[in-house]
Amino acid sequence: MEEIKLKIANMIYDALNNNDINLDEIKEKIEVPKDKQNGDFSYPCFNLAKILRNSPVNIANNIKENMTIDSSISKVEVVNGFLNFYLDSNNIVNDVLSKIVSQKEKYGSTKEGEGINIIVEYSSPNIAKPFHLGHFRNTVLGKALYDLYETLGYNVTGINHLGDWGRQFGILIEGYKRFKDEYNFDKNPLEALSDIYVRINKIAKEDEVVMNQARENFKKLEQGDEELTKLWKYFREVSLKEYKRIYDLLGSRFDSYNGEAFYNDKMDEVVEILDKKGVLKDSQGAKVVEVGDNMPPCIVLKSNGSTIYATRDLAAILYRARTYDFTKCIYITATEQILHFKQVFEAAKYLVDEKYQKGLVHVAYGMIRLKTGKMSTREGNVIYINDLIEEAISKAKDILVAKNPDLDNIDEVSKKIGLGALIFNYLKTTKNREIIFDLDDSLRFDGETGPYVQYTYVRTKSILEKVGFNIEEIDNNVDYTLLKEKQEIDLIKELEKFEAIIRKAANEYEPSVLARYLIDVSVAFSRFYNECSVANISDENLKQARCVLVYATSLVIKKGLSILGIECPEKM
Ligand code: ARG
Repeated sequence: MEEIKLKIANMIYDALNNNDINLDEIKEKIEVPKDKQNGDFSYPCFNLAKILRNSPVNIANNIKENMTIDSSISKVEVVNGFLNFYLDSNNIVNDVLSKIVSQKEKYGSTKEGEGINIIVEYSSPNIAKPFHLGHFRNTVLGKALYDLYETLGYNVTGINHLGDWGRQFGILIEGYKRFKDEYNFDKNPLEALSDIYVRINKIAKEDEVVMNQARENFKKLEQGDEELTKLWKYFREVSLKEYKRIYDLLGSRFDSYNGEAFYNDKMDEVVEILDKKGVLKDSQGAKVVEVGDNMPPCIVLKSNGSTIYATRDLAAILYRARTYDFTKCIYITATEQILHFKQVFEAAKYLVDEKYQKGLVHVAYGMIRLKTGKMSTREGNVIYINDLIEEAISKAKDILVAKNPDLDNIDEVSKKIGLGALIFNYLKTTKNREIIFDLDDSLRFDGETGPYVQYTYVRTKSILEKVGFNIEEIDNNVDYTLLKEKQEIDLIKELEKFEAIIRKAANEYEPSVLARYLIDVSVAFSRFYNECSVANISDENLKQARCVLVYATSLVIKKGLSILGIECPEKM
C-alpha cells in the first residue's frame, strides 16, 4: 500500500513540478476511498488551490494532463476536485504474488525500524501471587507488540517489571515464618504463598504487633538482611518458575526480568535529582512532584520517608533511558493505572531528556469478565490461568476427537488449538474494550475465532499437499494474469495489505488490527475456494497460478498468527 501511494505521489509531484509543494505532503493526502467506485486511491486537490491560485478542478485536470501514468495504474479520473486512481489488477496480482514467492517467510517484514530501540514492558505480575486473567491479557498483548515491532525491524527489548518489592513482602515473610509448616511447597508453591499472604494480611490488619513485625521485616529486607533476602529470592524463584511455564506456552520473550526490587538502590538518585531541580515539594509530610492542575501530585516519598511504586517507576525510566537509549518505552497495564502513568510520565520530564520523556507510552487494556461457568466459582473471580489453559486444551481435544478421531498427535494439536482459541479471543478485541470471556465461543471452528483461522491454514496445506505443490519448483514464469476471477483478485488484495496491517497494528499498539485482518484473509480464502477449483482443473498453468495463491495465503496466515503467539497445526 505504502509503495503504491508513494508511486502515485511521485506521479503527482512530477506533474506539478513546483518547488513549493513537497512529496511527503502529497503522499500524506492520498486517501483510500470508502467506495471502490471512486477508485483504489484518491488525491484531493483542494489544498493546492491557494498555492497554485487555481480551482481544484482545473488543478486536477492539469495534473492529469501532465502526468506520466505508471503501468500499475489502469485509469485516472477527475471527479470534482479529486484525482481518482484505479489500480490495474493484473499488475497487483503479479506484484503481490511475485513478491511473496521471492520473499517467502520474509514477506510482511521490513527494515524500517533498524537502529531504533523500543522497549515493551509487559506481563509484570506481582510475585507470590497467582497469574490471573488480567495478566494473561497483558502478556498476550505484550508478546504481540514485541513481535509486531520486531517484524518491522526495530530493536526490541522485552522487560518484565516484576512486582517483587514493597511492604507486602514484609507481610508475606511474617506469614511464611508462622505458617510454612502447614503447606506443601513442592506441589503448588504459588497457591501456598498466596494463601499464606491472604491469611497473614487479615491478621496484620487487626493486630498492630504483627503489622509492626511485617514493617520491621521489610525494613531489614531493604537493608539487605541476609536471611530475609534468601527468603525473598526463594519467593521470586518459585514464582518465576511458574510464570515461565506460561510464558513458554504463549511464546512470550523477556530480555530482562528486572522488577521493582532492582530499583531499590537506584531511587536515592531520583530523589536527589528532583530535589536539586527544586521540584520536590512538601505535602502533608510527604515529598511530591506537582504534575499540573488536572492531576493529584506524584508522590515520591511517603511521610515516613519510604519510597513507593511510583518512585521505582521513576528510577526505571532513568535507568532505561541510560541503558537502552529507547525511542519508545511502552508500558502495558490495565486501565486502573492510567492516572499512575500520567503522573509518572509527567514527573519524568525532570529526570530525563525530552526525547525519552516523549517516548513514554502507556497502553491500557480493559477488564475481563467471565461469562459464568465453573472457572469463575473458584475463589470469587480469581481464576487460575493454569486451570483455564487446561480446560481450553481438553475442550479442544473433545472437539477434535469428535471431528477427526484418526488425527495423529492429537494432544499436540489440541494444545495448539486450545491455546490459539484463548489467545485469539483476547487479541481480536480492541484493547480498551472489556472482554466477556466465553471459552466455548472462542473454540468454535466457524466465526471469528483462532481455530477458524487455524483451520483455514490447515485447508491451504491440505490443498497444496493434494496437488503435490512445491514452492521450490516455482520460477518466475508462472502466468498470474490467469487469475481473473473476482474472488481471486479480492484475496490477492487482502494479501497485499499484510505489511501495512502490521505497521498499523504496531503504530496503534493494537494487535486486534492484525487479528481482524487474519479473519478477513480467511473469509476471502473461503470465498475463493468455494468458487475456484485448484486441484481438479486441467489447465496446468491456471492450476499453478492458483496454487501460488493458496501458498501465499497459507504463508500470510501462519506468519500473522505467529506474531500473535499462535501456532498452526498442519492437520486438524
Ligand atoms: N506489577 C504491577 C501490577 O500487577 C504492574 C506493573 C506495571 N509496570 C510498571 N512499570 N509500573 O499491577
